[in-house]
Amino acid sequence: MYIYSEEEKNRVIYDHDALIIGAGLSGLRVAIELAQKHDVAILTKVQALRSHSVAAQGGINAALREDDSWEMHAFDTVKGSDYLADQDAVEILTQEAPRAVIENELWGTAFSRTPTGNIAQRPFGGAGYPRTCYAADRTGHNLLHTTFEQAMRLGIKFYDEFFATSLVRDDNRIVGVTALEISSGAVHGFTAKAVVVATGGFGRVYARSTNALINTGDGCALALRVGVPLKDMEFVQFHPTTLYGSSILITEGARGEGGHLLNAKGKRFMGKYAPDKMELAPRDIVARAIRTEVLEGRGFEGRYVHLDLTHLGKDRIMERLPGIREICVHFAGIDPIDEPIPVLPGQHYSMGGIDCDKYGNTTLPGLFAVGEAACMSVHGANRLGGNSLLETLVFGRVVGQKVIEYLGSAKSPSKQVVDDEAYRIREKLQTMTIKEQGESLHELRTKLTEAMDDYVGVFRNANDIKKALKVIREVRIGFENLALGEMDQRFNYSLIRALELENMIDLAESIAQGALMRKESRGAHWRVDYPNRNDEKFLKHSLATLTPEGIKISYKDVNLGRFEVKERMY
Ligand code: FUM
Repeated sequence: MYIYSEEEKNRVIYDHDALIIGAGLSGLRVAIELAQKHDVAILTKVQALRSHSVAAQGGINAALREDDSWEMHAFDTVKGSDYLADQDAVEILTQEAPRAVIENELWGTAFSRTPTGNIAQRPFGGAGYPRTCYAADRTGHNLLHTTFEQAMRLGIKFYDEFFATSLVRDDNRIVGVTALEISSGAVHGFTAKAVVVATGGFGRVYARSTNALINTGDGCALALRVGVPLKDMEFVQFHPTTLYGSSILITEGARGEGGHLLNAKGKRFMGKYAPDKMELAPRDIVARAIRTEVLEGRGFEGRYVHLDLTHLGKDRIMERLPGIREICVHFAGIDPIDEPIPVLPGQHYSMGGIDCDKYGNTTLPGLFAVGEAACMSVHGANRLGGNSLLETLVFGRVVGQKVIEYLGSAKSPSKQVVDDEAYRIREKLQTMTIKEQGESLHELRTKLTEAMDDYVGVFRNANDIKKALKVIREVRIGFENLALGEMDQRFNYSLIRALELENMIDLAESIAQGALMRKESRGAHWRVDYPNRNDEKFLKHSLATLTPEGIKISYKDVNLGRFEVKERMY
């Protein structure tokens, strides 16, 4: 039975100067910066090396060569964002990129090399220069292991397999976090002067996603519930090439190495959609091109197209894309050395996230956000491949430095407020686990995620989005009557999945409501009923706020800068 003893109800409250939620690259990099001056801990629902950063394949962008520059990188990023990115934040991202890459190289990341021994770089979508540094097709894996080693070296404290259940605010500042210890079922309070949300994206709001099952946007939903808005949630990236059948990522690096997209007539079709860049147009354009080919009857089995690497040859595939070959062999029974890969677009990245400035400050003092959980916004309406790993390392350091500044004058938090909140969460979890008859968790989660796929996908229109909102409302009502069928306190993964679903409902509504209100097409948000970009009305960030009546949308200005807003052509 999920009942707490008196002893459990009175658990010790943990206390740290700063607590980071999430142990992916962003969270680790913030912690490394902080650990040199403060008592910092990382709370994470999976052990650090299971974080989704490990799955990043193709690379990390940095202007390393003399004939490239941070300004060229910044221009590509702003143009790729369909001019919605905040240009001051993009300047930090691109200026700091070489430093971040070299720092990780010196820590030991085994980047692939040119024949002369420099870090190798490959072309990526939407980039005017081949500036994506890579470690074969396992770049995230390499960076994460190296960065984790540094966290180990500094002796950073980890609370592994703790699921954050709420952020705690006291008047107008953050004072801590409550979290469920998955192994025991105990709910603990954590006081902290500063809390950093680094929980990654929320791709699992969609049924077909390249994201790990853990990517349910928990930190974003918790921030929303303490009154912090989410920004630009309607901008969801659909990666053009996910493996048909399993939605596993097939890296853009495959096209960077020279892979071709072919329709069922055997034609290379990208010339019609992006005559200059072809397969290396930005992701939003390539994803729409593939969907158009399929919708117009030129797909295989009415579902997918081919990514052909056979002309690259065995040696190049084995050296540069060994992970992709393994994925295709194991999950599709196809060897890309000999046969084309069946691919289709699938959810990949969340451009939106917690509203914060370029230093990670949210509207709640002491609460910071970083990485995919945050919206700073360096990606605007469409992120370029290779800028996500970069964002984690650059802004991990920047946010770490800002947290240090904040801690210099922050007051100690009240233990009582955190204690009271932990008590409330224990009661909530008890109520959730006690019900024996009711709605099925699996059915509600499937209903929600399939509606997002069907109605808020690559191409959108008002009728479909309204259908999604109706389903989200039904799932929200169903959730109130949820029966978990699992009352054990220890390792109660039904309870974890239910708490994730609760988070996903708010995030799905934020995405759909933002998509309904944005009556234009920009970057990854394509409204067939409003097919043009409308700068006059919508060169704005959207803000989603949780109210008793549901999600409400408002807007705020974009920080423009050196690059003039223009039509985007590739
Ligand atoms: O295609 C990829 O390798 C993905 C890279 C990214 O999302 O930055």
